[in-house]
Amino acid sequence: MAVKEAPKEIFLKDYKPTGYHFDTVELKFVLSEKKTTVVSKIRVLPRNSSESPPLVLDGRDVKLLFVKINGEERKLEEVELTSRHLTLKSLPVQPFDLEIGSEIHPETNLSLEGLYKSSSGMFCTQCEAEGFRKITFYQDRPDVMAKFTTRIEADKAQYPVLLSNGNLIDSGDLENGFHYAVWEDPFKKPCYLFALVAGQLTSRDDTFKTRSGRDVQLRIWTPAQDVPKTEHAMHALKLSMKWDEDVYGLEYDLDLFNIVAVPDFNMGAMENKSLNIFNSKLVLASAETATDVDYAAILGVIGHEYFHNWTGNRVTCRDWFQLSLKEGLTVFRDQEFSSDMGSRPVKRIGDVALLRTAQFSEDAGPMAHPVRPHSYIKMDNFYTVTVYEKGAEVVRMYQTLLGKDGFRKGMDLYFERHDGQAVTCEDFFAAMRDANSANLSVFLRWYSQAGTPILTVSTAYDAAARSYTVKCKQEIPSTPGQPVKEPTLIPLAVGLLNSKGEDMVLTELLDGGSLKSLKDTAGGPAKTAVLVVDKEEQEFTFLNLPEKPVPSFLRNFSAPVRLVTPTVTDDDLLFLLAHDSDEFNRWEAGQTMGRKLMLDLIPKAQRNEQLAVPSAFVEGMRRICGKGTNTSWRKRTDGLDGGCRSRCSTYCPKICDKRACVETEARFPENCEYRLIVTENRSSDPHYTFDHKNKARRSLKNLALGYLCSLDEADTTELALKEYKSATNMTDQFAALSSLCQNPGDVRDEALANFYEQWKDETLVVNKWLVLQSMSDIPGNVKNMRRLLDHPSFDMKNPNKVYSLIGPFCRTAVNFHAKDGSGYEFLAEVTLQLDKMNPQVASRMVSSLSRWKRFDEGRQSLAKAQLERIAKTDGLSENVFEIASKSLA
Ligand code: ARG
Ligand code: ZN
Repeated sequence: MAVKEAPKEIFLKDYKPTGYHFDTVELKFVLSEKKTTVVSKIRVLPRNSSESPPLVLDGRDVKLLFVKINGEERKLEEVELTSRHLTLKSLPVQPFDLEIGSEIHPETNLSLEGLYKSSSGMFCTQCEAEGFRKITFYQDRPDVMAKFTTRIEADKAQYPVLLSNGNLIDSGDLENGFHYAVWEDPFKKPCYLFALVAGQLTSRDDTFKTRSGRDVQLRIWTPAQDVPKTEHAMHALKLSMKWDEDVYGLEYDLDLFNIVAVPDFNMGAMENKSLNIFNSKLVLASAETATDVDYAAILGVIGHEYFHNWTGNRVTCRDWFQLSLKEGLTVFRDQEFSSDMGSRPVKRIGDVALLRTAQFSEDAGPMAHPVRPHSYIKMDNFYTVTVYEKGAEVVRMYQTLLGKDGFRKGMDLYFERHDGQAVTCEDFFAAMRDANSANLSVFLRWYSQAGTPILTVSTAYDAAARSYTVKCKQEIPSTPGQPVKEPTLIPLAVGLLNSKGEDMVLTELLDGGSLKSLKDTAGGPAKTAVLVVDKEEQEFTFLNLPEKPVPSFLRNFSAPVRLVTPTVTDDDLLFLLAHDSDEFNRWEAGQTMGRKLMLDLIPKAQRNEQLAVPSAFVEGMRRICGKGTNTSWRKRTDGLDGGCRSRCSTYCPKICDKRACVETEARFPENCEYRLIVTENRSSDPHYTFDHKNKARRSLKNLALGYLCSLDEADTTELALKEYKSATNMTDQFAALSSLCQNPGDVRDEALANFYEQWKDETLVVNKWLVLQSMSDIPGNVKNMRRLLDHPSFDMKNPNKVYSLIGPFCRTAVNFHAKDGSGYEFLAEVTLQLDKMNPQVASRMVSSLSRWKRFDEGRQSLAKAQLERIAKTDGLSENVFEIASKSLA
């Protein structure tokens, strides 16, 4: 057995280029049930012709069979082999051929990393970030880019379909019932974009004509019975291809594009060159089995992976610290794509809500890290909301600062300079800066500093001078390893409303003493100004304002900050809720107001005092729900996006929450005529259409139904049962089931049993059934969780099952925090069991305990004890070790 190497922390500052380039790579796989052999033949180019440093190859769980240099075998006793590396010395200084034979065992690989055999029987790969080293010995890092040719041999009956990257250049039959296929990828790529699939698969085929007139074959592969469920994904793919041409001028660069759906996959999907591999749940959809949320996720992720072909594959990352270079940018692109295909404000509201709940809390906890981390033990732990979602906000800020046209110029320059290269976040920054001759140097701090900036904005109106001063102060909290922060560059988008609720025209601005005239991007009068806040304290003064405005700050959430506005009053918020032309900020005003009211009502409810919600707020919400009579309100809300109505209404339930405010005048369900909303928005058309209008209608109806059911009265239950039984699609059926499941009792139990009976053969639907029970706040749910671990529908080896049953429990459920610690204990047990099979998934689960310092005293010690129990377990994976130890530090 090779020497065991200990886990090591890797630092950005230690980056060094390799001593050897890999030019071409020929891989040969012989796949079989008992073992797989891999032979790789690499053309190696030494960087320097006067010396030959050791060539260090990564390799894990790979058995070395032979090494040949220029056809000559090296004695295995002469090479250096550890549990992680194969080191070759005394190498030629001229280009040479390196041939390595190895053996691997995909059939027992439960980590779902490298080459593995899926429960569905197919072979498939996942190489990002560092999975290729589980396939063969290689320089497994993204700055090593080579041209790959892949030959696959396998049993023809069991594995009729053999796929890899690029074009199929040869195929045929072999002896003993085997066959082969040879794939050639003409583009240089890092090994993390390598992919291989072999199995019994059927494809939905289509074509796309690029704008230069080339026909691209599109194929989505699944087991035969699932092909009907790939229609939406195919549609989404074609929309993505068209959108990237229209918006960025980017065309697909090969004649074939494959997508394969796999039921067991650690993440959402993977952008391997011309062979994207997807978690089935992000490909398969039918009206009966998938919800609006699923349809939207499929659209977004198909787009995301497709867009990676340019932002990720053609231009890739120099090292893994630069992950956000491709992920932040590609998330931004998929967000914009989904906005263009549906409702822009609704998409923005959803994305910001996710950023705030998941990313802001990550940024305030023990795992806080910058968009570009400084170090890692296991890279898989850094596929985070910070790298992805905050990274997308950073990209969005360039666009806010430079304008859409300026951003496009920056993108064009980025591709012009870096096509075919592995680059850094500075290279992206430089392209944006140079294409626009912009001075943005402070902006780079977004990449290096963790923590969510707190931006405090206060205002003063001077009637005599007709001027309005906006005073800004920024502060970035300290985070692990970064006690002191420098101010960053915050684009603060501001609109000012007059007393009629219209946007005032912003003509002149005093900015740090210099006078600027303001215009919108088309050169017309400005209604939103982007203030560049790049100092700790700063003042801006708008001139020529005839009356005191109501300010709308951080329009469209122009920067990922926590905004504090001491001078904005409740009346201002109600006014913005009614009038702001920025739909995001209308929602925001309602949220802020709702939160204030709730915080005010809860203690009153606890003291059993009379509760009342200001009539202006009730009225505002009624208008948003579309039930108003007042004509000025009417006008405003008539134009309001349907999906926004539903989004804006989400504070009602919290306020009428039984536990806080029952039996009060604030019973929104009645005030807002929710029964009417349910009946009016019921569809008369049994045919399901996934478009914005219908989605918005279903969402408002189902929201109202949920609020009604929280009252737990006979007639609300009856209404929900009726909706459940008459539903003609999964969106409505599942929403009705969720509404019913809020309240413990026979109705809930029967509905759950009925749903399971109906859908037990549809694994993705059963996962929803698991989620619903996992999230449940019914008393003593830990017991039920343990029972479900043994349920036939659960399988610890399948990540989707774990994400459905364990994930939501730990993220959202009251029962996770059971006073006796049973929830924490449950999680620790599951984590340790899971870690032996799949460290990536185990480490995602353990993250829920990492915020233990925020718990109350009793719970802190219970949670900490479970973290310690995990941390001291023998044979722990590096993945879980990193999260557990950092959480305890
Ligand atoms: N690049 C993939 C994406 O589209 C994610 C791959 C994540 N892999 C991992 N081992 N964490 O975002
Ligand atoms: Zn991605």
